[in-house]
Amino acid sequence: MTGSLLVDNIGELVTNVAGEGEGGPLGIRHHAAVLVEAGRVAWIGPTRYAPAADRRIDAEGAAVLPGFVDSHAHLVFAGDRAAEFAARMSGQPYTGGGIRTTVGATRAASDDELRATVRRLRVEAMRQGTTTIEIKSGYGLTVADEARSLRIATEFTDETTFLGAHVVPAEYADRPDDYVGMVCGPMLAAAAPYARWIDVFCERGAFDVDHARAILACGQAVGLGVRLHANQLGPGPGVQLGVELGAASVDHCTHLTDADIEALASTATEDGGTATVATLLPGAEFSTRSPYPDARRLLDAGVTVALATDCNPGSSYTSSMPFCIALAVCEMRMTPAEAVWAATAGGAAALRRDDLGRLRPGAPADLMILDAPSHLHLAYRPGVPLIRQVLHNGVPQCRP
Ligand code: NIG
Ligand code: FE
Repeated sequence: MTGSLLVDNIGELVTNVAGEGEGGPLGIRHHAAVLVEAGRVAWIGPTRYAPAADRRIDAEGAAVLPGFVDSHAHLVFAGDRAAEFAARMSGQPYTGGGIRTTVGATRAASDDELRATVRRLRVEAMRQGTTTIEIKSGYGLTVADEARSLRIATEFTDETTFLGAHVVPAEYADRPDDYVGMVCGPMLAAAAPYARWIDVFCERGAFDVDHARAILACGQAVGLGVRLHANQLGPGPGVQLGVELGAASVDHCTHLTDADIEALASTATEDGGTATVATLLPGAEFSTRSPYPDARRLLDAGVTVALATDCNPGSSYTSSMPFCIALAVCEMRMTPAEAVWAATAGGAAALRRDDLGRLRPGAPADLMILDAPSHLHLAYRPGVPLIRQVLHNGVPQCRP
């Protein structure tokens, strides 16, 4: 779509530019307008001074926010695990063992079946305000299936993550060292051209700290950035390994010791955040009936926190960032402002994307118009479809 576009009559504009207007880090402006040109924010100011544009969207006093940046999702898979979910709701614990069920279904699926699932979930997420989404492999676990998972993921996002070390597949169950060798060798070679990041599920029953360190180091050596699943099911060395390796993000962080928090806080940067972000995934705790991570402890220690969906068919089959915001606020003692920031600028920090998560001139015009007067309603009205319209690179997306 060409030509300029003006979104005006914005009752509350969340810019995430600290010091802009009110609301501290949210940088809130009232009675605002945003001019979009060539897919980017060209101007932000009061509606009454807004320049003319080729097209106009009247926000009618509603709130406008930066698009959500969902920095953790597993969208390339086949089948579902509704029966496993039902068993869990009858008292079975979540152990991650169901991952192998999805691996079997994913290997048996055609490229077009996998592509259709990613497309369906990508559209679903967009309708809920997600303009950027990270997509992991990790349900193929052969050289060919990991490479094709990532190839398909690149059709939908630039933020692709190689998770060949999700679990040790059944055919390698009695020789995990051989599997790690394969991940670091031919699998990484086949996956790296399609990946920006490397991730490991560092957990009892998945990969121990030595295997995780070896795999992540191999990924770093070929230029991939590091992120990892850490401290989800119990305490462990994952978070500190992430800090040691300069990870952009350690994800889950459900079981943290004081030393883990201190390690994260020690990555403080001049901009007041931390270089290693703690990405919290409350959809997983909700869907596995597990205790939530202690977001307050992380925030009070100065650690940068991101919120993401962890969308996957096992532990968190939701693509809804508003749902995660509501959980973070009502169950994890985050304020609505902290949760909205974590779901936008926090996600951008977890992906080391300075260009995303903030509305300012020059930034991609990724934003959402709510059917509500303020960002508070995202947590205040849980489960309600509040996203009226989404612009991605300045292009209006399908209405919900
Ligand atoms: O982030 N923890 C590991 N991976 C996913 C779950 C995957 C699954 O159960 O299929 C997660 O929760
Ligand atoms: Fe995950």
